[in-house]
Amino acid sequence: MGSGTGFGGRHAYPGALAFPFGFALSWTRAATSQAKRATEDLSSPELRAGEFQTYLSGRVAVSGCMTDPIIAENLVKVYDGKIRAVEGVSFHVKEGELFGFLGPNGAGKTTTVQMLTANLRPTSGTGLTAGLDVSRDPGGVKRRIGLVFQESTADGDLTGRENMELQAALYSVPTSEARGRIDSLLKRMHVGDAADRPVKTYSGGMRRRLELAVGIVHSPKILFLDEPTLGLDPQGRAGFWQYIQELRKELGLTVFLTTHYLDEADNLCDRLAIIDHGKVVASGTPAELKDGLGGDVVTLRVKEGDRDLTATLRAVTGALAVNVQDGSYRVKCTNGESMVPLLVQAAAGSGATVTAVSLKRPSLDEVFLEYTGREFREEEGPSATDMAVRIGQVRQNLGRMGR
Ligand SMILES: Nc1ncnc2c1ncn2[C@@H]1O[C@H](COP(=O)(O)OP(=O)(O)OP(=O)(O)O)[C@@H](O)[C@H]1O
Ligand SMILES: [Mg+2]
Repeated sequence: MGSGTGFGGRHAYPGALAFPFGFALSWTRAATSQAKRATEDLSSPELRAGEFQTYLSGRVAVSGCMTDPIIAENLVKVYDGKIRAVEGVSFHVKEGELFGFLGPNGAGKTTTVQMLTANLRPTSGTGLTAGLDVSRDPGGVKRRIGLVFQESTADGDLTGRENMELQAALYSVPTSEARGRIDSLLKRMHVGDAADRPVKTYSGGMRRRLELAVGIVHSPKILFLDEPTLGLDPQGRAGFWQYIQELRKELGLTVFLTTHYLDEADNLCDRLAIIDHGKVVASGTPAELKDGLGGDVVTLRVKEGDRDLTATLRAVTGALAVNVQDGSYRVKCTNGESMVPLLVQAAAGSGATVTAVSLKRPSLDEVFLEYTGREFREEEGPSATDMAVRIGQVRQNLGRMGR
């Protein structure tokens, strides 16, 4: 590790309260090597949490987050001395969580995944995966995780089954165990019928499904998925996620996911971080991120000829802004569900007849646009000019809602 990577030569841990992550940049060299020895004990499941925590608590800073399976602390990656792909990213992923990492093309997602999976050395900062420093013990990290790369990695000349067997052997899965697991995974990912054909004869979707199976053949406890469902049809995506959810339940699997499918992220992820230009620009649960945009919109349509309700609706406690659009009242508020009956009641109390009511929550797409000013999949999307017009329209709509 280079001198800028954090540990070597630094001194004096200044106290737990000074660092929210409770560790990292100021560990002494001695504490680090002790911690490393302790983390190596993690290979023994019986020793895991207790030993690690007790050991560290006497010597270095410990917070509740210290044992989180994935921790990034100020990670930086500069390619070729000039391309600043990741600019100081920090987050932690808790055990059993499905954590989504979103961002436009080129934002730094894959680079971050590669650093946390010990495939790429950070320029500076610290990555701890499965309790191990990714720069100091890349082999240990790799043994403890599963990874599905964004790019295809299966060997086209080998059959699907042979690719699986190779991976199982690499991870020392006993042959007797591997055989059953490979069969079941191939079936589950709908590659069973093609299992004994060379992978170069597979369709893109089949290949992707095989790679997902390969990534989990050794039953890892921590799984990194870099755009795992890209190119899969809806059934393929649904089947894959169903299996991942089952594994999460059975094994308490922790999953770090990058995806360009915002619906996936919204429905599946416990927490999300959005990265843009190498920096985390927002993080939280999907609900928190959507709420952070300024709330819900309740739309009320009333019978033509009813008197103007703007002032009546604005007077309802919780109504943040009211405007009229296409003959409907749009009320911006924070808790739409509880506002609906109050607004209907207020309208009725003023003698109006409400003919339709709808509630709209901001989508993750709007969250994404808000924080990055860009949509996903620009390469497949409209031209830059079209994009500017669309973004302008969304901003205008948000403006109209009183933002
Ligand atoms: N090996 C490399 N050498 C030089 N620059 C690189 C290398 N890999 C990535 N980059 C650059 O680093 C930045 C981040 O790339 P990265 O692949 O991490 O983005 P990403 O968020 O995964 O994008 P995508 O959504 O397209 O997969 C980009 O500007 C990219 O061009
Ligand atoms: Mg990528």
